[in-house]
Amino acid sequence: MREVARFGNGSRVPGWDDAVDLEKEPVEVPDPATTPVPDDLRAEIESHLAKYPDRRSAALPALAAAQRVHGWCSPEAIAQAATVMRLTPAYLSAIATFYDMFHTEPVGLHRVYVCTNISCSLNGADALYERLHDAAEGNEDLHVQHFECLGACDIAPMASVDGVYVGPLELDDVPRLLSDLAAGRPPLADKQLRRRFSADPHANTQQFRPGPGNEPIVAAGAGGTPKPPVAVGPDMPADQDRSDQPAPIEQPPDPPENPEPDG
Ligand code: FES
Repeated sequence: MREVARFGNGSRVPGWDDAVDLEKEPVEVPDPATTPVPDDLRAEIESHLAKYPDRRSAALPALAAAQRVHGWCSPEAIAQAATVMRLTPAYLSAIATFYDMFHTEPVGLHRVYVCTNISCSLNGADALYERLHDAAEGNEDLHVQHFECLGACDIAPMASVDGVYVGPLELDDVPRLLSDLAAGRPPLADKQLRRRFSADPHANTQQFRPGPGNEPIVAAGAGGTPKPPVAVGPDMPADQDRSDQPAPIEQPPDPPENPEPDG
């Protein structure tokens, strides 16, 4: 079985053992006149800056916005974010290299993070990661990465697929996941956490819902034979159904309701 790779310092997280390049010229805050920034990206970063008294506090959402636009935290993406924030690219690079979800190398369009922490490992995550890793070999659209606890231990073993949590996963789910991604369908729609009230099938009170523009979702039976969906209760109330929205971790905070007037 494939060992989950560790770096020299024993960490699963890259970056800590990258030496500083002492030969490099010190970098300064980029000149806005020579560093054009797409209007949408500038507007988004400025909206994040407006939320904080210290502009450095907006570094994470600014980098996330730049990564969304460029596909990864490329030197150009970081320079653009630094230009709007009036910071050095080095400051933002230090942050981008620390966090697993910022990519400082080009990665595939689809990002699959397989949790290999304790609950998932005990339920077969290492074999799942190995199967996905092997299946992604040579597929430039796919980036498979192992991850520390993704905070959904109740659906172990699980993965985040482009920000959508799916689980509990079986090895046989891997081909179906890949074909969903290749066809542009919601990944493993019947295993998406956000489509269920609970990970426990006996506690569910919602029938699995059809994905937008897709045929009704059915749970795959043994050998991939589809079974009809099981009606287990009433539909989720419309005001609680967030199945067409990104995972909570990616949602912007809700604006305050009825903010107190100043004074
Ligand atoms: S151990 Fe995998 S989600 Fe927590």
